[in-house]
Amino acid sequence: MKRVLTYGTFDLLHYGHINLLKRAKALGDYLIVALSTDEFNATKGKVAFHDYETRKLMEAIRYVDLVIPEKNWEQKISDVKDYHVDVVVMGSDWAGSDRFDYLKDYCELVFLDRTPGISTTKIKHDLGLVKDKN
Ligand code: CTP
Repeated sequence: MKRVLTYGTFDLLHYGHINLLKRAKALGDYLIVALSTDEFNATKGKVAFHDYETRKLMEAIRYVDLVIPEKNWEQKISDVKDYHVDVVVMGSDWAGSDRFDYLKDYCELVFLDRTPGISTTKIKHDLGLVKDKN
């Protein structure tokens, strides 16, 4: 059983998220999503449209086997150990950064390309909920 772990907020769930989850699951047999809590996002100045419990309903997606809370930046090594993770998947937003290289001592680290043209921020922008866009 190969276990895959990925991190994110997954607010206003969109097809870019689904593509990421599908490809992450295809790297193994069991996919865990560490879903950013509202408190963790607050430390980053980020406010999700939907709260944690609502976003956690993503566990119904067929590619997702388990959702756990992402509460801080430091929990990744213990997540990998506690959940016997073989592969951590990050979005290509982080590719080229050495920020998560320390994880390579514990598991494989894979960066998956983002789906072009869609993001939670873009949806908020297009709906007139925010002024900035990425
Ligand atoms: N993701 C992706 N393709 C997109 C958008 C997101 O592959 N078009 C991936 C991210 O790389 C990440 C995961 O989905 O691995 C969750 O990303 P998240 O930050 O929650 O979604 P975004 O739409 O990028 O949200 P925001 O605009 O708030 O940054």
